[in-house]
Amino acid sequence: MYLYLLGVVVLFYLYRWVKEQPRVSDKGGKFVYITGCDSGFGNLLARHLDKLGFRVIAGCFTEKGEESLKKTCSGNLITTHLDVTSKESVAKVTAMITDQVGERGLWAVVNNAGVAVPTGPCDWHILDDYKAMLDVNLYGVIGVTLSVLPLIKKAKGRVVNVASVFGRISPVGGPYCVSKYGVEAFNDSLRINMAPFGVKVLCIEPGFFKTNVTDSQIHIKNVKDLWDRLPQNIKDDYGSDYVQKAIKVIEGKVSKLADADLMKVVDCMEHAISATCPRKRYSPGWDAKLFWLPLSYMPSCVTDYILLKEAIPIARK
Ligand SMILES: NC(=O)c1ccc[n+]([C@@H]2O[C@H](COP(=O)([O-])OP(=O)(O)OC[C@H]3O[C@@H](n4cnc5c(N)ncnc54)[C@H](OP(=O)(O)O)[C@@H]3O)[C@@H](O)[C@H]2O)c1
Repeated sequence: MYLYLLGVVVLFYLYRWVKEQPRVSDKGGKFVYITGCDSGFGNLLARHLDKLGFRVIAGCFTEKGEESLKKTCSGNLITTHLDVTSKESVAKVTAMITDQVGERGLWAVVNNAGVAVPTGPCDWHILDDYKAMLDVNLYGVIGVTLSVLPLIKKAKGRVVNVASVFGRISPVGGPYCVSKYGVEAFNDSLRINMAPFGVKVLCIEPGFFKTNVTDSQIHIKNVKDLWDRLPQNIKDDYGSDYVQKAIKVIEGKVSKLADADLMKVVDCMEHAISATCPRKRYSPGWDAKLFWLPLSYMPSCVTDYILLKEAIPIARK
């Protein structure tokens, strides 16, 4: 009986592996637009796709990012300034892409740009923190997608959304998980709406990887900045040593848990863009596969118990 079950599992994975091998043809005629290419996954993906022969349009937030990308890529790659929170910037890039792609349309957009601070307990935030992060992580994704969707429909192409395992479970307070849950919802409704047009919508949900998003120095500064602006009554609720405990957790867990092999994520992005049969969801990282996703399927009483066990203790008054 167990051998039979094992055989079925092995056959399933073998079938899936074979089905997922073929790649689309004519890479040189396919344009891929990526947001947030200054650093991290976006930067590595731009360079990787350029090597594979795709026509990459790399949206960079800074001039420095554009220049360093140009130096390491072929002449086929186009860089452009892009601020996903600015309607004018998004429209300007879309006009340029429309000119470039012509009748072929746009093969894929990768909504990768994102920010991860400020992040702290919910009551450390003000509404403007939520609005500012949602502007980048959620409205940026929606705005960029809507602006190029007609071009993607023309190519019967793809929308690749970079969410997070924190779009499936919410272990930290503040706007980050809210924004990523929003990306998941937008992704899922768009996937259904676009299916009749032959457009595929794919979601990447990485675990912890070593980029600016998990940089311990950035997170330590973020915690100190948030703490400094808190009113005294909230500081008293948490206790004066809370910041030091939070810094210890950041130094001990966040940076150590993060996987340095960014290619695990980039390979998933590349598969979503170029496989003839892409997956609807990708969860790169062992922490995502073995911890965060299974935890997200548990009853709330179980997830709460586990997350509270790991939470930073608050000094009892
Ligand atoms: N690293 C992880 O563990 C992890 C896990 C799950 C999901 N993610 C997601 O993966 C995506 C990529 O992040 P990453 O980890 O590669 O970190 P990253 O290196 O910080 O990449 C984010 C990119 O977005 C750019 N950006 C920020 N604000 C922007 C704006 N308003 N308009 C356009 N671009 C903007 C950044 O530019 P600057 O560098 O110039 O600021 C940077 O190039 C994000 O959506 C993130 O939430 C990351």
